[in-house]
Amino acid sequence: MRIKPHKFPGVFTFVDEDGSEKIATKNLVPGQKVYGERTVKSEGEEYRIWNPTRSKLGAAILNGLKNFPIKPGSTVLYLGIASGTTASHVSDIVDWKGKVFGVEFSPRVLRELVPLVEERRNIVPILGDATKPEGYRALVPKVDVIFEDVAQPSQAKILIDNARAYLKSKGYGMISIKSRSIDVTKEPEQVFKEVEEELSTYFEIVEKLSLEPYEKDHALFVVRKP
Ligand SMILES: C[S@@+](CC[C@H](N)C(=O)[O-])C[C@H]1O[C@@H](n2cnc3c(N)ncnc32)[C@H](O)[C@@H]1O
Repeated sequence: MRIKPHKFPGVFTFVDEDGSEKIATKNLVPGQKVYGERTVKSEGEEYRIWNPTRSKLGAAILNGLKNFPIKPGSTVLYLGIASGTTASHVSDIVDWKGKVFGVEFSPRVLRELVPLVEERRNIVPILGDATKPEGYRALVPKVDVIFEDVAQPSQAKILIDNARAYLKSKGYGMISIKSRSIDVTKEPEQVFKEVEEELSTYFEIVEKLSLEPYEKDHALFVVRKP
Protein backbone atom coordinates (compact mmCIF):
# COMPACT_ATOMS: atom_id res chain seq x y z
CA MET A 1 0.00 0.00 0.00
CA ARG A 2 1.54 3.35 -1.01
CA ILE A 3 0.49 5.95 1.54
CA LYS A 4 1.13 9.60 0.61
CA PRO A 5 0.74 12.82 2.59
CA HIS A 6 -2.61 14.53 1.91
CA LYS A 7 -2.58 18.29 1.25
CA PHE A 8 -3.59 18.73 4.91
CA PRO A 9 -0.61 18.13 7.26
CA GLY A 10 -1.16 15.09 9.48
CA VAL A 11 -3.63 13.51 7.05
CA PHE A 12 -2.58 10.78 4.60
CA THR A 13 -4.16 9.33 1.49
CA PHE A 14 -3.91 6.23 -0.64
CA VAL A 15 -5.75 4.38 -3.38
CA ASP A 16 -7.31 1.19 -2.02
CA GLU A 17 -7.32 -2.20 -3.78
CA ASP A 18 -10.81 -1.47 -5.19
CA GLY A 19 -9.57 1.81 -6.70
CA SER A 20 -11.32 4.09 -4.18
CA GLU A 21 -9.55 7.00 -2.48
CA LYS A 22 -9.06 6.54 1.26
CA ILE A 23 -7.78 8.85 3.97
CA ALA A 24 -5.88 7.85 7.09
CA THR A 25 -3.94 9.21 10.05
CA LYS A 26 -0.67 7.92 11.50
CA ASN A 27 -1.48 5.98 14.67
CA LEU A 28 -0.18 7.92 17.68
CA VAL A 29 -0.52 4.73 19.75
CA PRO A 30 0.57 1.89 17.45
CA GLY A 31 -1.53 -1.23 18.03
CA GLN A 32 -4.49 0.74 19.43
CA LYS A 33 -7.76 0.56 17.49
CA VAL A 34 -10.58 2.87 18.50
CA TYR A 35 -13.74 1.95 16.59
CA GLY A 36 -12.87 -1.22 14.70
CA GLU A 37 -11.15 0.76 11.94
CA ARG A 38 -8.79 -0.93 9.48
CA THR A 39 -5.08 -0.30 9.91
CA VAL A 40 -2.37 -0.49 7.27
CA LYS A 41 1.42 -0.54 7.55
CA SER A 42 3.67 1.46 5.27
CA GLU A 43 7.43 1.92 5.63
CA GLY A 44 7.34 0.77 9.26
CA GLU A 45 4.52 3.13 10.29
CA GLU A 46 0.96 2.18 11.21
CA TYR A 47 -1.94 4.16 9.76
CA ARG A 48 -5.61 4.11 10.85
CA ILE A 49 -8.06 4.36 7.97
CA TRP A 50 -10.54 7.20 8.55
CA ASN A 51 -14.05 5.91 7.87
CA PRO A 52 -16.22 8.74 6.40
CA THR A 53 -19.45 6.93 7.30
CA ARG A 54 -18.45 7.03 10.99
CA SER A 55 -16.95 10.53 11.12
CA LYS A 56 -18.35 13.79 9.74
CA LEU A 57 -14.89 15.33 9.65
CA GLY A 58 -13.64 12.38 7.60
CA ALA A 59 -16.65 12.81 5.28
CA ALA A 60 -15.85 16.51 4.88
CA ILE A 61 -12.23 15.84 3.91
CA LEU A 62 -13.25 13.23 1.35
CA ASN A 63 -15.89 15.65 0.02
CA GLY A 64 -13.14 18.14 -0.86
CA LEU A 65 -12.96 20.39 2.21
CA LYS A 66 -10.69 23.35 1.31
CA ASN A 67 -9.89 24.75 4.76
CA PHE A 68 -8.72 22.42 7.53
CA PRO A 69 -7.28 24.40 10.43
CA ILE A 70 -6.44 21.35 12.62
CA LYS A 71 -2.70 20.70 12.23
CA PRO A 72 0.19 19.02 14.05
CA GLY A 73 0.65 21.01 17.29
CA SER A 74 -2.88 22.52 17.34
CA THR A 75 -4.88 22.81 20.55
CA VAL A 76 -8.49 21.84 19.90
CA LEU A 77 -11.64 22.17 22.01
CA TYR A 78 -13.90 19.33 20.86
CA LEU A 79 -17.58 19.73 21.83
CA GLY A 80 -19.48 16.44 21.77
CA ILE A 81 -16.46 14.12 21.82
CA ALA A 82 -18.65 11.04 22.53
CA SER A 83 -16.51 7.88 22.70
CA GLY A 84 -13.75 9.41 20.61
CA THR A 85 -14.23 8.07 17.07
CA THR A 86 -13.43 11.33 15.26
CA ALA A 87 -11.40 12.75 18.14
CA SER A 88 -8.96 9.84 17.85
CA HIS A 89 -8.06 10.98 14.32
CA VAL A 90 -7.81 14.58 15.54
CA SER A 91 -5.49 13.28 18.29
CA ASP A 92 -3.33 11.54 15.66
CA ILE A 93 -3.14 14.77 13.62
CA VAL A 94 -2.27 17.19 16.44
CA ASP A 95 0.35 14.68 17.63
CA TRP A 96 2.06 14.80 21.04
CA LYS A 97 2.77 18.54 20.63
CA GLY A 98 -0.96 19.31 20.41
CA LYS A 99 -3.93 18.70 22.71
CA VAL A 100 -7.61 17.84 22.36
CA PHE A 101 -9.93 19.00 25.15
CA GLY A 102 -13.04 16.87 24.73
CA VAL A 103 -16.36 17.92 26.30
CA GLU A 104 -19.16 15.39 26.63
CA PHE A 105 -22.29 15.59 28.81
CA SER A 106 -23.17 11.89 28.93
CA PRO A 107 -21.23 10.14 31.74
CA ARG A 108 -22.00 6.75 30.18
CA VAL A 109 -20.51 7.78 26.82
CA LEU A 110 -17.52 9.48 28.44
CA ARG A 111 -16.72 6.28 30.36
CA GLU A 112 -16.12 4.56 27.00
CA LEU A 113 -13.51 7.22 26.21
CA VAL A 114 -11.48 6.62 29.37
CA PRO A 115 -9.58 3.45 28.29
CA LEU A 116 -8.65 5.22 25.05
CA VAL A 117 -7.11 8.24 26.73
CA GLU A 118 -5.06 6.18 29.19
CA GLU A 119 -2.56 5.71 26.36
CA ARG A 120 -3.64 8.55 24.09
CA ARG A 121 -2.66 11.21 26.58
CA ASN A 122 -3.08 14.20 24.27
CA ILE A 123 -6.87 13.91 24.80
CA VAL A 124 -8.27 15.49 27.98
CA PRO A 125 -11.80 14.16 28.63
CA ILE A 126 -14.14 16.63 30.31
CA LEU A 127 -17.59 15.79 31.68
CA GLY A 128 -19.42 19.03 30.92
CA ASP A 129 -22.27 20.73 29.14
CA ALA A 130 -21.24 22.67 26.03
CA THR A 131 -24.14 25.08 26.56
CA LYS A 132 -22.41 26.19 29.79
CA PRO A 133 -18.81 26.92 28.78
CA GLU A 134 -17.97 28.53 32.15
CA GLY A 135 -18.28 25.01 33.68
CA TYR A 136 -14.89 23.90 32.28
CA ARG A 137 -12.94 27.15 32.61
CA ALA A 138 -10.42 25.60 35.03
CA LEU A 139 -9.51 22.89 32.49
CA VAL A 140 -9.45 24.55 29.06
CA PRO A 141 -6.94 27.17 27.86
CA LYS A 142 -7.32 29.42 24.80
CA VAL A 143 -7.38 27.10 21.78
CA ASP A 144 -6.55 27.30 18.06
CA VAL A 145 -9.69 25.48 16.88
CA ILE A 146 -13.12 24.57 18.26
CA PHE A 147 -14.79 21.56 16.64
CA GLU A 148 -18.47 21.03 17.47
CA ASP A 149 -20.66 17.99 16.80
CA VAL A 150 -23.42 17.97 19.39
CA ALA A 151 -26.63 17.61 17.32
CA GLN A 152 -28.59 20.11 19.45
CA PRO A 153 -31.11 22.80 18.39
CA SER A 154 -28.85 25.62 19.66
CA GLN A 155 -25.71 24.46 17.84
CA ALA A 156 -24.67 27.86 16.43
CA LYS A 157 -25.11 29.64 19.78
CA ILE A 158 -23.02 26.92 21.50
CA LEU A 159 -20.14 27.59 19.08
CA ILE A 160 -20.37 31.36 19.53
CA ASP A 161 -20.47 31.12 23.35
CA ASN A 162 -17.49 28.73 23.44
CA ALA A 163 -15.54 30.85 20.96
CA ARG A 164 -16.05 33.94 23.15
CA ALA A 165 -14.64 32.03 26.12
CA TYR A 166 -11.90 29.86 24.59
CA LEU A 167 -11.01 30.64 20.97
CA LYS A 168 -7.88 32.65 20.20
CA SER A 169 -8.37 35.73 18.06
CA LYS A 170 -8.20 34.62 14.35
CA GLY A 171 -8.86 31.04 15.54
CA TYR A 172 -11.17 28.71 13.64
CA GLY A 173 -14.45 27.01 14.42
CA MET A 174 -15.72 23.90 12.65
CA ILE A 175 -19.31 22.83 13.15
CA SER A 176 -21.33 19.94 11.82
CA ILE A 177 -24.99 20.85 11.44
CA LYS A 178 -27.72 18.24 11.33
CA SER A 179 -30.74 20.11 9.98
CA ARG A 180 -33.22 17.73 11.61
CA SER A 181 -31.79 18.43 15.06
CA ILE A 182 -32.64 22.10 14.57
CA ASP A 183 -36.04 21.91 12.84
CA VAL A 184 -37.53 18.77 11.27
CA THR A 185 -40.29 20.78 9.60
CA LYS A 186 -37.97 23.02 7.52
CA GLU A 187 -36.07 22.22 4.35
CA PRO A 188 -32.40 21.50 5.21
CA GLU A 189 -31.21 24.36 2.93
CA GLN A 190 -33.40 26.82 4.86
CA VAL A 191 -31.98 25.57 8.18
CA PHE A 192 -28.39 25.88 6.85
CA LYS A 193 -29.13 29.44 5.68
CA GLU A 194 -30.43 30.42 9.12
CA VAL A 195 -27.44 28.81 10.84
CA GLU A 196 -25.09 30.66 8.50
CA GLU A 197 -26.82 33.96 9.34
CA GLU A 198 -26.50 33.30 13.07
CA LEU A 199 -22.84 32.27 12.80
CA SER A 200 -22.05 35.37 10.73
CA THR A 201 -23.19 37.64 13.58
CA TYR A 202 -19.92 36.67 15.30
CA PHE A 203 -17.66 34.85 12.80
CA GLU A 204 -16.40 35.26 9.27
CA ILE A 205 -17.80 32.32 7.26
CA VAL A 206 -14.86 30.58 5.58
CA GLU A 207 -16.51 27.55 4.01
CA LYS A 208 -19.74 25.57 3.90
CA LEU A 209 -19.80 21.98 2.67
CA SER A 210 -22.49 19.32 2.30
CA LEU A 211 -21.72 15.96 3.92
CA GLU A 212 -23.92 14.01 1.47
CA PRO A 213 -23.78 11.17 0.53
CA TYR A 214 -22.10 10.11 3.80
CA GLU A 215 -24.56 11.95 6.09
CA LYS A 216 -28.05 12.91 4.98
CA ASP A 217 -29.11 16.55 5.58
CA HIS A 218 -25.82 17.52 7.20
CA ALA A 219 -23.50 20.41 6.42
CA LEU A 220 -20.15 21.41 7.85
CA PHE A 221 -19.17 25.06 8.33
CA VAL A 222 -15.66 26.41 8.81
CA VAL A 223 -15.70 29.84 10.44
CA ARG A 224 -13.08 32.29 11.74
CA LYS A 225 -13.08 34.56 14.76
CA PRO A 226 -12.26 38.16 13.81
C1 LIG B 1 -23.14 13.01 17.11
S1 LIG B 1 -22.47 12.58 18.63
C2 LIG B 1 -20.75 12.98 18.47
C3 LIG B 1 -19.93 12.03 17.64
C4 LIG B 1 -18.47 12.38 17.66
N1 LIG B 1 -18.27 13.77 17.36
C5 LIG B 1 -17.64 11.57 16.69
O1 LIG B 1 -17.66 11.85 15.49
O2 LIG B 1 -16.95 10.65 17.12
C6 LIG B 1 -22.99 13.91 19.63
C7 LIG B 1 -22.48 13.85 21.05
O3 LIG B 1 -22.70 15.12 21.66
C8 LIG B 1 -23.07 14.92 23.00
N2 LIG B 1 -23.77 16.16 23.43
C9 LIG B 1 -24.99 16.59 23.08
N3 LIG B 1 -25.27 17.74 23.66
C10 LIG B 1 -24.19 18.09 24.41
C11 LIG B 1 -23.88 19.19 25.26
N4 LIG B 1 -24.75 20.18 25.45
N5 LIG B 1 -22.69 19.20 25.85
C12 LIG B 1 -21.79 18.19 25.67
N6 LIG B 1 -22.03 17.11 24.88
C13 LIG B 1 -23.22 17.06 24.27
C14 LIG B 1 -23.95 13.67 22.97
O4 LIG B 1 -24.02 13.05 24.24
C15 LIG B 1 -23.22 12.82 21.92
O5 LIG B 1 -22.27 11.97 22.52
